[in-house]
Amino acid sequence: MVSGTCFAEFGTDVAIVETNPDRLTALREGRIPIYEPGLDRLVEENVEAGRLTFGDDIAAAVKGADAVFVAVGTPSRRGDGQADTSYVYAAVEQIARVADGYTVIVTKSTVPVGTGREIARIIRKTRPDLDFDVASNPEFLREGNAIQDFMRPDRVIIGTDQYKPEGTERAQNILRKLYRPLYLLETPIVFTGLETAELIKYSANSFLAMKITFINEISDLCEKVGANVNDVARSIGLDGRIGKKFLHPSPGFGGSCFPKDTRALTAIGRNAGSPVRLIETTVAVNEQRMKDMGERVIAFAGGDVSGLTIGVLGLTFKPETDDMREAASIPVLDMLDKGGAKIRAFDPAGMTTARPVLPKSVTYCTDALDAAKGADILVVMTEWNEFRSLAPEKLAAEMKGRKIADLRNIWDPKAIKDAGFDYISLGRPDAVQPHQA
Ligand code: UDX
Repeated sequence: MVSGTCFAEFGTDVAIVETNPDRLTALREGRIPIYEPGLDRLVEENVEAGRLTFGDDIAAAVKGADAVFVAVGTPSRRGDGQADTSYVYAAVEQIARVADGYTVIVTKSTVPVGTGREIARIIRKTRPDLDFDVASNPEFLREGNAIQDFMRPDRVIIGTDQYKPEGTERAQNILRKLYRPLYLLETPIVFTGLETAELIKYSANSFLAMKITFINEISDLCEKVGANVNDVARSIGLDGRIGKKFLHPSPGFGGSCFPKDTRALTAIGRNAGSPVRLIETTVAVNEQRMKDMGERVIAFAGGDVSGLTIGVLGLTFKPETDDMREAASIPVLDMLDKGGAKIRAFDPAGMTTARPVLPKSVTYCTDALDAAKGADILVVMTEWNEFRSLAPEKLAAEMKGRKIADLRNIWDPKAIKDAGFDYISLGRPDAVQPHQA
């Protein structure tokens, strides 16, 4: 959605194919089926300008196209954690059947190393007569910030078949033209081979996931030794070689990319006989962390949450999205529910998506103060801005108990404690008593 709309904004004619009928109806009526700030306006403008259309007819969309982007899902396969490429291959086969004339088939979906070459094989088999090239153009868009990330990227990666020089040049020229507005902004455009482009995406996401996991472990260590993780993160981040971003401690990274991509890179490494042990550990530490967070809340409650009311602020895997995929709130709320707690939850955007994946007994509230009503404990799961400005006195007026477990460090420990709360957060000694060995 975002890439297609932004290409249209660059002045290219874009036809988006959506096979889900409900989503297609929504799109045609101008309703955006995902929560992405600014996307509705951009879609509206480009539809009005006649550059952006939505349909379910692949043949009509592919006819005359210079490039066809495949952006279907590649979910983790159950069991081995590998990315499931069946949707990609199915889409490619359909594209091959209807393509007319030279076409570059580009993967935007995050696909395992070797997929591009397999796509080329499928196309050759389906349409031996078709003149085509395959390219890999991974996206690095963050949910909630996706338009900005597309319009002002740190880099654009274009991978083409390094063993087919003539094709490489033709495909590169088409993609260079598509990204011309970024080229003019001096965005680095990196041309690589197919396998390299595929591996860049996994390496980038896995590195960031590892960085978060690193600070999460340092945060735990801070609690034990009486250090402050905010100061550690800030200070190490000032070293340009480390960089200050992605050093916020959390109840564990979630979302549609990091958990899936770290698992997939682990599988790619093992299958290639070159295990990526740092990432294997990252996956294990992050999964354990989410469970530990549930236990941490239970311990904070005194070891037993049965019969207690727990207010929960934020459910999505991060703010500014309605996405619940692999959110830390899922294992944490599950544990609290199993422990017999009554859960009152509020999320500014994610309550509809949360319902099917959270325990049935959860009560969904109208706002943060409603979630705090009668609560013995309040737990912050996602750092939505609107929670940061909540006055502690107002929370106190609604709550029955005086315990707050802030798993995103959104509040100042001193201010919350001064308001009479018993407060825990992540890796900050003001909030956590140093462990006495
Ligand atoms: C990520 C990548 O950033 C993006 O480049 C890629 O294209 C898709 O995956 P996204 O999943 O939208 O984007 O969210 P991101 O902001 O990266 O956060 C992912 C998870 O890491 C969230 O659960 C977030 O809470 C967590 N996180 C992030 C931390 O715990 N600490 C941090 O410092 C940063």
